[in-house]
Amino acid sequence: MTEQKATNVHWHEGDISREHRGRLLGQKGATLWFTGLSGSGKSTVAVALEGALYEAGRLSYRLDGDNVRLGINKNLGFSAEDRTENIRRIGEIAKLFVDTGVIALSSFVSPYREDRDTVRQLHEEAGMDFIEVFVDVPLDVAESRDPKGLYKKARAGEIKNFTGIDDPYEPPLNAEVILNSHEMSLQEEVDTLLNVLRERGII
Ligand code: ADX
Repeated sequence: MTEQKATNVHWHEGDISREHRGRLLGQKGATLWFTGLSGSGKSTVAVALEGALYEAGRLSYRLDGDNVRLGINKNLGFSAEDRTENIRRIGEIAKLFVDTGVIALSSFVSPYREDRDTVRQLHEEAGMDFIEVFVDVPLDVAESRDPKGLYKKARAGEIKNFTGIDDPYEPPLNAEVILNSHEMSLQEEVDTLLNVLRERGII
């Protein structure tokens, strides 16, 4: 857990709560945390789910590895420390979205179990839903897709510490949802997630 650096700072409570905001939007916020290898299909399913939720009149927002790394996390690379800080910040940002009543769709490789569990704990301590979605495909499937040509570069030694090649990926042990994107259609994946959201009373 990252230490609290600033001293003499105190939480300032407002008058409008998460419940108020949820009523305004007619939904409950939650985080769907997609984890898996690069090329596993995390962003693809998040985009499709965002579309399906929009059609159903539900507000979600995608937080995506590449996008976030071009903005708030532009000062982070792919060392173990930087990946941990990347996930810590995204976890906090996802929580802010949940607090506003929005469904956060967070797609990051997030290779370390401990980092994901820390984000889960932060949500659970705040009484927020955290749904871990393991987008599980074998490495050879992700590598054969290679949408950004990065596996090819990693195999050629042009990218160091590439997840799945010369950097670890620790699969979840208790993910709420497992999507095998090489065996399921995109529609099946979206339907699975919509059902989970319904069962939990989020939508
Ligand atoms: S994480 O490990 O910190 O969670 P994140 O999801 O933000 O990673 O970013 C991963 C994306 O960055 C990949 O989809 C890929 O496009 C790109 N990338 C560039 N270098 C690496 C690397 N060394 N390991 C994994 N992904 C990388």
